[in-house]
Amino acid sequence: MTQDELKTLVGQAALLYVTPGEVVGVGTGSTVNKFIDALASMKAQIPGAVSSSEASTARLRALGIPVLDTREVAELSVYIDGADEIDSRGFMVKGGGAALTREKIVAAMSKKFVCIADESKMVSSLGAFPLPVEVIPMAAVRLIRQFQRMGGQAGVRLKDGQPLVTDNGQHILDVTGLRITDPLAFESEVNQWPGVVTVGVFAHQKADVCLLGTPNGVKTLTF
Ligand code: 5RP
Repeated sequence: MTQDELKTLVGQAALLYVTPGEVVGVGTGSTVNKFIDALASMKAQIPGAVSSSEASTARLRALGIPVLDTREVAELSVYIDGADEIDSRGFMVKGGGAALTREKIVAAMSKKFVCIADESKMVSSLGAFPLPVEVIPMAAVRLIRQFQRMGGQAGVRLKDGQPLVTDNGQHILDVTGLRITDPLAFESEVNQWPGVVTVGVFAHQKADVCLLGTPNGVKTLTF
């Protein structure tokens, strides 16, 4: 099975976690796009979705699924999103699609985080995927030095030769060379560096369930 087919498989499997009558939290990325496409079959049964990016909002609306503002919804029962890496405890690295800040906000509003991923995303320890960190542009140079002191190499993510600008008007640093052995402590530490908007380690907002796409079908992991 191709990676794309595995993504389709888990995107469809995630429908089981959508409760009729309830708003669903929707993440961002190519795997979530498969979920959004599948969700269209349930659109008459749900009031709508809370979205984590302009890209997901556009896809949801194009399929006729209403997108609600976070201020209209106090709590979500479930949030469905992908990951760049997930470990055996449900800790993740996210932000490959630059949507990490809104993803973390919607995850924090949700009682259950269901991660959908193909099996290539499962790792024994986080850090091989370049860690995305959303930053205030004026802090970028100082933060690059701070990651260097930690043993990492950080660079500003570019798009068409210019710094990529997130949905929140900020920049992304991608950091390589880190081994994140204590994700909870790492997230807490980097979060309090001045100029950091969001670090792409999701340990405090970890997954509760992972639907992992494998050639033998969907494997359900609970954490
Ligand atoms: C976007 C994310 C995505 O969930 C992550 O990058 C995985 O994306 P994909 O499903 O395309 O592999 O965090 O900011």
